[in-house]
Parts: sequence; C-alpha cells; structure tokens
Amino acid sequence: MALYPSLRSLIASLCFCFVAFSLSAFGRPATFLQDFQVTWSDSHIRQIDGGRAIQLILDQNSGCGFASKRKYLFGRVSMKIKLIPGDSAGTVTAFYMNSDTDAVRDELDFEFLGNRTGQPYTVQTNIYAHGKGNREQRVNLWFDPSADFHTYTILWNHHHIVFYVDEVPIRVYKNNEARGVPYPKLQPMGVFSTLWEADDWATRGGLEKINWSRAPFYSYYRDFDIEGCSVPGPANCASSATNWWEGTAYQALNALEYRRYRWVRINHMIYDYCTDKSRYPVAPPECLAGF
Ligand SMILES: *[C@@H]1O[C@H](CO)[C@@H](O)[C@H](O)[C@H]1NC(C)=O
Ligand SMILES: *[C@@H]1O[C@H](CO)[C@@H](O)[C@H](O)[C@H]1NC(C)=O
Repeated sequence: MALYPSLRSLIASLCFCFVAFSLSAFGRPATFLQDFQVTWSDSHIRQIDGGRAIQLILDQNSGCGFASKRKYLFGRVSMKIKLIPGDSAGTVTAFYMNSDTDAVRDELDFEFLGNRTGQPYTVQTNIYAHGKGNREQRVNLWFDPSADFHTYTILWNHHHIVFYVDEVPIRVYKNNEARGVPYPKLQPMGVFSTLWEADDWATRGGLEKINWSRAPFYSYYRDFDIEGCSVPGPANCASSATNWWEGTAYQALNALEYRRYRWVRINHMIYDYCTDKSRYPVAPPECLAGF
C-alpha cells in the first residue's frame, strides 16, 4: 500500500520520458490537419502520404491557401517546400506569419516568385512591425527549389527574427527597440501559406506573364513544424527565458551562420530596400544598425 504512490510516480515519470523521447525523436506535428486548416479553395489542396504532405494547386479557376489553427507568440516555424517546376513565371508561393489584425499588423513574409524555365526563383522577404512594412529584400536562390524539398524556417524570439533557407540565414531583423526601431513582440501570429497568380508584378516586375497552357501548377509541402507559445495558452510562456528558441545559441548568428549570411548578401542578394535611394533617400534606422 505504501509503495503505491511511488509506483505511480515512477510510472508517470516513465510515461513522461517516453512522451519527451517521442517528441524529440519524431518531431511534430505528424500531419497537416493537426496544426493547419484550409482557408482558401478546399478543392485545390490535396492531402497526400496520409496527411503528412500536401499538394497545392493553381489553375485558371483558383489558387489556394492554408493557415495554422492557432496563433503563436515567439518560436520557430519551418516546413519543407518543393516549388512549381519549369515555367513558373507569374506564380507566387508564400509562407508567412501574420497577426491577422487590420490596424496594427505584424507580419513576416517569405514569397517565392516564379520564373521562366532556367531562370532563378527569387525569394522576397518582408517584415511588418507595428503596422509598417515596406522592408523588402530579394535573394535569387542558388539551387533549383523545384527539383527537391528544401526547408524554409522563420525563427522569432526576443532578440531577432531570422529567415533561413535550409541552414543558410538569408535575412536577419534584430530587435533594435533601444534605437527606436519597431519590433513585433506583442501580438501573436498565425502561420499561413498561399499559392496564387500575380503576373502583374511577380516576375521581372510583371513583364513575364503566366503561361496558363501549362496549368495546373503544383507545389508540395511536408514536415510541418511549429514550436512556439500558442495563444491562447499558458500565460507566461512567451516571456519565459527557458524556451529553447530564446537560448544563447539562438540570440545571435553563430560564426558559421554569419559567414553563410554574408555569402548570401554578397553573391545572391538582388534587392535591398536599405540601399534603395529612390524609395529611401535616408536609410531607415534598422538599416544603419548593421547586419
Ligand atoms: C527571373 O530571371 C531574371 C533573369 O535571370 C532575373 O533578372 C530575375 O531576378 C528573376 N526573378 C524574378 C522574380 O523575376
Ligand atoms: C506556353 O506553354 C506551352 C505548353 O508548354 C508552350 O507550347 C508555349 O510555347 C508556351 N508559351 C510561351 C509564351 O512561353
């Protein structure tokens, strides 16, 4: 009888270990529907591989989109995406986080701009903080993102926001609130993705039109991974310094990441609002803080 409570706690801790082990060993979530729902055109999103992957479809009738069921305040979101192959000019595939608030919007964007066959896909990133965006940067990818799945990640903590393509940081937005630069930190954001036609601007500034005779266009997603503080959720989660994504290793780029980031900026960056004198005769304050 006296053994019973300690036996119970032993079993409980064994169970806990098992759960912790399964989470770290297999990642999460396993399927699309655990964390996401379709938000635009059910008929254009197909679950494959038992819901562990999805196919997005763009044709002349519609594009499509999905979103996380919940919102998150800080964390890391990643997914593997395989983009439209061949002639993808005029198409845009987006993966972003958004507070979904009209007045004071926070948003972190990855937009993949299609191109004519053999021409490089462009990744445009943008950051809205406290309702203000217009912080576009563009990078031409150094590989064909339609040949295989690659991992696209947004890390968002109290110190910085980093956009990664595989292991390579392509953009860093530091928390420079001390210098008066707005930083998203009060509003939770949902995770969104859409595939649509935008041939009035997407490819070579709108010169290259979509070729509908090649439709339908397909992109593929898998390995959805959201780790963050869900809102609503535990009240003190977002401010807790013990969340792994707030840890020392995630507070600034390490030496290897920094070298990779520099390599991207020197070799693959094709547009940076920070150096666009026609838009910003005086560079915005976050641009002066260095990278
Ligand atoms: C498409 O290819 C052209 C020519 O190589 C390049 O200038 C452009 O940056 C590429 N991306 C887009 C989205 O137009
Ligand atoms: C559009 O795609 C069709 C089918 O692949 C091809 O025959 C045609 O040449 C393409 N048109 C343009 C303008 O690239």
